[in-house]
Amino acid sequence: MCGIVGYTGFQDAYDIVINGLRRLEYRGYDSAGIVLESTNNKFEVEKTKGKVDDLVNISSQLKGTAKIGMGHTRWATHGVPSDRNSHPHLSNNGKIALVHNGIIENYDTIKTMLTEKGFTFKSETDTEVLVNLIQYFMDINSDTDFPTAVRYALNEVYGAYAITVLHEDYPGVLVVGRLGSPLAIGIGEKEYFIASDASPFVEFTKEAIYLEEGHMATISLEKGVDIRTINDNSKIEPEIQELKLSLEQIEKGGYEHFMLKEIFEQPKSIHDTMRGRLLVDEGVIKMAGIWDHVERFKNANRIIIIACGTSWHAGLIGEYLIEEYARIPVEVEYASEFRYRNPIITDKDVVIAISQSGETADTMAALKLAKEKGAFIYGICNVVDSSIARITDAGSYTHAGPEIGVASTKAFTAQLTILTLIAFKLGKHNGNLGNADFMSLIAELDAIPKKIEEVLNTTHELVQNIAKDFVNATNFLYLGRGYNYPAALEGALKLKEISYIHAEGYPAAEMKHGPIALIDENMPIVIIAPKKGHYDKIVSNVQEIKARKGKVIAVVNKGDQQVSAMADYVIEIPETSECFSPIVASVPLQLLAYYIAVYRGANVDQPRNLAKSVTVE
Ligand code: M6R
Repeated sequence: MCGIVGYTGFQDAYDIVINGLRRLEYRGYDSAGIVLESTNNKFEVEKTKGKVDDLVNISSQLKGTAKIGMGHTRWATHGVPSDRNSHPHLSNNGKIALVHNGIIENYDTIKTMLTEKGFTFKSETDTEVLVNLIQYFMDINSDTDFPTAVRYALNEVYGAYAITVLHEDYPGVLVVGRLGSPLAIGIGEKEYFIASDASPFVEFTKEAIYLEEGHMATISLEKGVDIRTINDNSKIEPEIQELKLSLEQIEKGGYEHFMLKEIFEQPKSIHDTMRGRLLVDEGVIKMAGIWDHVERFKNANRIIIIACGTSWHAGLIGEYLIEEYARIPVEVEYASEFRYRNPIITDKDVVIAISQSGETADTMAALKLAKEKGAFIYGICNVVDSSIARITDAGSYTHAGPEIGVASTKAFTAQLTILTLIAFKLGKHNGNLGNADFMSLIAELDAIPKKIEEVLNTTHELVQNIAKDFVNATNFLYLGRGYNYPAALEGALKLKEISYIHAEGYPAAEMKHGPIALIDENMPIVIIAPKKGHYDKIVSNVQEIKARKGKVIAVVNKGDQQVSAMADYVIEIPETSECFSPIVASVPLQLLAYYIAVYRGANVDQPRNLAKSVTVE
């Protein structure tokens, strides 16, 4: 939610900020803005509703000359997307500029206080309140310097924020702070970069500081980076990290969209997720995060998986995997429900949080709650060093590489890979998975990237053709049983989020308890029907659909006869053990959603109303 870029150095600040914003546009893209500081210390602010491309259309006097500036790409929370609500926001005296990612929950109370003191507001945003609160602290005491005023203001607000602030009277100084939203500082040779993630500065430096929760920093070429705690101004020694990210990972690499690139990266991302962990020849799964705490898992009363969206779907499949192979009871909860329903959690529980971004506000809050209640908390995140990864007791990274398309694809299959490894590892350890079965399952898992490659090769063109027939569909049903019920939910989510076609996922057997009423000749039904996994029951479900003239798109195993004979469209995937079928079956469903969305002219990588990291409730 919202992307922030800042720069001070010797290069053209306009170019650095604009190019950086383009890389962060996945975080929010309903408006964009930039502020540059002129050589005589005056601000030039340009902002607009729309995308970074719209911002570029507005001419800038300081392009080419300003060496310091910052920008923002927005996902609206307070106030509609509009020029006025776009960031940066200026204080009433015009001297302070601020960009913000997050939500100031008590902004209304502060706004009332400031209004009584004579402040006026041009926007509906919480951000404009914060920038004026900073001015207020400088107004009421002329001894209060700019960084101190920012610190005072941050101590008054609650909610989530990552901010970057400039002051005309403090030329060359950038003040940043964070609580609940990420912020990285890139350290170059005589230049500093600020960004919501490292992608805007990866080609300029490999050294970065990830600002910790509750910390702020004052950055200038003259004095370097001074980090302090927001609550009591204690000095913090910066921890400089080496970036692993490469430019290639964050570019489209010849694909039309990031989503398509990420779908095609899955053989590699699954392989990378297993690398060093799955040692087939030695017959072991090495996962330090699990192994170091294996007794916690073994003695757990239950495992609770918390997540949102696609990660929640992965969690549902995790439940099937862990219960089948490790025989440990698992519950899967939406993080947003878990955190507010006063759940019963004890120190005998293990809570696994799944999150691609590692930033999702609901997942983060649910995890904190579980931690407070004494549960052991384990993270499955894709973004290294993300907030969730940092607060967990242990965890496993998915190593899928940066996922930029808003619709999650490769992160999902990487999450399934980790959950499979965990289930097999725990099952082997606690004796529920015998050695022979373990050996044959891990050999099969090792071959999954090859099978995905085969699916991509054999179904890509076919799925494109199928997609053409459904461009004008208004509804879709997705059905599956067992492990493929969550895969059906995920297929439906993919379609609705990028094509805006209404889609529902259901366990196939539930169809007759309601959704069957929707079926007629206009209803497309995607049904996942692999050989292993209640095949006979699925055959009956397909018969029930065909009896009502529904259009069946069946995902079946190669050589399938019965379902294929009844289906209107057949997509063949290689046969696997049931537990692997959601990984393999998800790939053609991702392609189907992708091509339907492309043919409908939708913006696949930046679907309307969505953002990649949901850092607000
Ligand atoms: O980063 P997270 O995995 O925590 O994100 C959770 C959801 O917001 C995310 O999966 C969302 O549903 C995606 N847009 C799905 O494609």
